[in-house]
Amino acid sequence: MRRKLVAANWKMNGSSASNAQWVTAWRRVSPPCDVVVCAPFVYLAQVGEALAAGSAQLGAQNLSEQTPGAFTGEVAGEMLADLGCRWVIVGHSERRAMYGETNELVAKKAARAIALGLKPIVCVGETLAERDGGRTLEVVSAQMAAVLAQCTVAQLAEAAIAYEPVWAIGTGRTATPAQAQEVHAAVRAQLAQADAPAAQRTRILYGGSVKPANAGELFAQPDIDGGLIGGASLVAADFAAICAAAK
Ligand code: PGA
Repeated sequence: MRRKLVAANWKMNGSSASNAQWVTAWRRVSPPCDVVVCAPFVYLAQVGEALAAGSAQLGAQNLSEQTPGAFTGEVAGEMLADLGCRWVIVGHSERRAMYGETNELVAKKAARAIALGLKPIVCVGETLAERDGGRTLEVVSAQMAAVLAQCTVAQLAEAAIAYEPVWAIGTGRTATPAQAQEVHAAVRAQLAQADAPAAQRTRILYGGSVKPANAGELFAQPDIDGGLIGGASLVAADFAAICAAAK
């Protein structure tokens, strides 16, 4: 039985004041699932301290594939671990689309995170053109294959995969539970080809316009093991309601 995992992806949002308010509201929540809060780099120390010993673990939204050194503006996984991060998102579609992250770079980042004891939340997903062209499973399977070339399924079973159809992110347009389930099952089948028992343990999250109103039916699908929540995670009460749907 996989325990559900719900992760907040604050993206490039927040301030010292709004983060403090969020965590104060969150302290009253007892989620029925594992919870991760992925804050912007500059607020990781603040949010990590505020969440300490509470019911949520700290995550970052990206890391460098490099070891520490002369890489101006980059953030090393060593630094994330040093700040108390347990998790890190890799390969979010915004980074793939806007910052040129390729399947290979994403895979390197996932491997780097694992080498440092961080749990990557590896994001995969197709664009609208790819879905309309009937290429969803092909695209997602190529993204997964790149990761599997550098990480074992047993390692991914300690981390998480997030299926996020690009056309559903921040658009208010959610994949139907059946559309999401189809891709989640395909991802699990691909993992199972390499290591069936580890594939059964691996948590595959859904992301893309998850809200309190639609979380329950998504999380009820057999291969959906939780969610990666963007916009709705910015309001602690909404995020808590989504977590409550992950019973
Ligand atoms: P959204 O974002 O919930 O705002 O659609 C999800 C994500 O991009 O992780």
